[in-house]
Formats: sequence, structure tokens, C-alpha cells
Amino acid sequence: MQRRNFLSSLAIGMGAAPGFAAGLQDFAESLKTAANETDYWKRVRQEFLLNPGLAHLNTGSLGATPRCVLDGIAGMLYQLEGDPVSNVFGPMGYRMDAVRAKAAELLGAATDEVAVIENTTSGMNYVAQSLIRSLKPGDEILTTNHEHPGGAVCWEYLAKYHGAKIVTLTIPVPVRDKAQIVELVQSHISPRTRVCSFSHVDTITGMRMPIAEISAITRPKDIILVCDGAQAPGMIKVDVKSLGVDTYASSSHKWMLAPKGSGLLYIRKDMQDTIRPLPLHSGYQAYTGATGTRNVCNVLGHGLAMEFHSTIGSQRVENRCRELSKIMRETLSKNPRLELLTPAQDDLATGMVSFKLKKGTAGDLYTRLLKDFEIMIKVVAKSEYNGIRLSTHIYNNEAEIERLAWAIEKIQSNSA
Ligand SMILES: Cc1ncc(COP(=O)(O)O)c(C=O)c1O
Repeated sequence: MQRRNFLSSLAIGMGAAPGFAAGLQDFAESLKTAANETDYWKRVRQEFLLNPGLAHLNTGSLGATPRCVLDGIAGMLYQLEGDPVSNVFGPMGYRMDAVRAKAAELLGAATDEVAVIENTTSGMNYVAQSLIRSLKPGDEILTTNHEHPGGAVCWEYLAKYHGAKIVTLTIPVPVRDKAQIVELVQSHISPRTRVCSFSHVDTITGMRMPIAEISAITRPKDIILVCDGAQAPGMIKVDVKSLGVDTYASSSHKWMLAPKGSGLLYIRKDMQDTIRPLPLHSGYQAYTGATGTRNVCNVLGHGLAMEFHSTIGSQRVENRCRELSKIMRETLSKNPRLELLTPAQDDLATGMVSFKLKKGTAGDLYTRLLKDFEIMIKVVAKSEYNGIRLSTHIYNNEAEIERLAWAIEKIQSNSA
């Protein structure tokens, strides 16, 4: 669906709600007047409500939603409450399908392959639960030691209650190159492997997994390739067809900057007979007998956030996230007390980079950075790395990276 069509179809649904997307249009106009790149990103930053002193370097946990999207949602909430039943089960509710079409466009999928859901975890759960009937005890699910619980618990459930066997591949840190990962996947596949479940972007290191190369192995063997895309859409361009995945679940409240509780689930058309989640039983529409009533304004706000993303452009967003991430990598690499956990190769890089602390604990550093310097980072979830993860999005800038590097050195030298 083209941008104009999405906005106008929302507008039809909004009826009398004036200006629900006006802020987005004003934002688009204001970008056109930016004098140069610096000015352009400054203008983008102004669209966010982030506390002025806060350096938010943890979009990997949650993104910030732009003002024009929030204004749109607020307007819709007010309109909806004027006549809740008519709006939710009428014109506003119908517009949720436009959100699905917009999501399909961004993922490179057909509209009837995409559902608008709550988050990655629920998407992964829907997929795993609908595989219960096709997996026999002893069938293998190949995954990695770097999966987030949101992409792992669903398989642990199948192992505990249905006899599936989880085979865990250890991600080398740092990874040598793409080929090393592909070889590892290949060598862990057995005649019993029925499912491969991998993150598109590794939550621990920020590495981009070579999913297209992996699908070239799994597809000919009829192994179902399930992808946890929590950290990808909104940060790197995603095309589910060229990735060759069978399912793809994501969280739009991270890099897509959508309201919290916004996610997507793609299931490849040819797999829809095999993978049949209950919430999609009556079709992929957001309101069905299987889904019940939805938070219509949140879903429509999810659509506005995707429009906000398209206003800048997926490629431009990816370039900026990666440009800043490279600066982050190079700047923090100068600190001898930090050791890079993320591979430096371009084809494995994303908008997240992680470092191991050679001195002090990641938890203490996190607390000091937030309390004393107003810098929000993430402690790497696996304690054995004693690591920190830094996300860079379109609202971040070079000065924040310098500030982080300076703050880390100050904390480390004070505790020397
Ligand atoms: C790779 C990965 N999968 C799943 C999740 C869980 O996301 P959500 O809580 O939105 O379901 C995260 C969150 O950080 C993640 O990084």
C-alpha cells in the first residue's frame, strides 16, 4: 500500500477526527527545509519527548515514540470515546487492516501473510504452539545460546511438555565471519531437525545473523526456519522473501518506535496450513472471533509509527543507525578496559554494539551511568560476558557517544 493510500484510508476511518495525521505531515514538511545532514537529524530529534538531558542508548529494550504519532493516538482516543461501540466495531476498527497492509509493505510480504500482534514473544509463542501437532517426541529444534527468552521459552515449553529436543549451537564471540556461522548451522543439523529458530539480530552482540544463507540450507531440507526479528524492523531493512524465512516475529515498540505493545507476525503463505495459530484462525484481521476486541488506537498508532519511519525512509534510517554504531564501536574501542564482543565486518553489523568490561561489573557501570550521567545503556543479558550493549537510533547523535565514552572513562578511573 502506498503512503498516500494508507494515510487517506486512515483519514476515511477517522471521520471527524481532525488532524490525527497532521503532525506527521508537518514533520515531513519540516524535514524538507533541513539545510544539511546535521540539521536534518536535529529536526528528527526534536520530534521526540526524551528528557533533554537523557542519552537514550537502549532502543534494543524499547524505542521512544515520536510526538506526531502520540498526538495522532491522543486524537483518536478522544474521538473513539465519543461513541466506543460504533468506532471500535465500525470505521476506526476497519482501518486496522490498513496497518496490516503497511506492515506487509515494510516486510516485503503479502498482506495476508502478516498479522498485527502485541510483541515478538507472543508471535514466537503462536508459532511454536501451532507446531505441537506436527512435532514428534525426539524431533529437534536447533537454536543458539544467544536467544532472548522471548524467542526461547516457546521451545522450552515444547521440550518440557511434548518431548521435543532442543539442540543449542554456541555463537563464537566474536564471530570470525558469516561463513563461520553458516558452517556451524550446517554441522548442527541432523536428520531429526525439524525447526531452526534464530534471531535476525543477536540480542547479546548486535550481530546480524546470515539468515538468507541459513534458509538456503533449511528450505531444501523442509526444515521450518523461524526468525525472531525483535531487533530488526525499524533498524535494518527487512525483506522476508529474500531472507527466505518461514515465519518472522517482531516488536515494533523497539526500533519501529511504535506505541508499546505493538508487534508483527509473518507466516509464509505456503506454510499457513502447517503453522495455524489460534489467534489467526478466523483470518489475519485484527478483530476476529479469535482475537477479540483490540486496542484500536494503539494499532492505528502502530500504523502511524510505520508511516513516520517511511517518511525518513528505511534505507536512510538503517544508514544512520549503522553510521552511529560504527562511531560508537570505534570510539569505545579506544578504551583499553573495554573489549569488543560484536564482529566488526560490515555485513554482520547493525545499530547495536556490545563490549565486555575487563574491569568492574557491567551492572555497576549501568547504575553509575544512569544515576550520575543520565545515560541509559543495557547490561548484556548473559552475565559471563560482563558486557554492555549500546543501541544507536535516529534520535541519537555523535555528541552522546562522546559523552558516553567520557563518562565510562571517568567512572573507571575513579574506581581504579
Ligand atoms: C531477540 C529478542 N527477542 C525477543 C525479545 C522480546 O521482545 P518483546 O518483549 O517485545 O516480546 C527481545 C527483547 O529485547 C529480543 O531482543
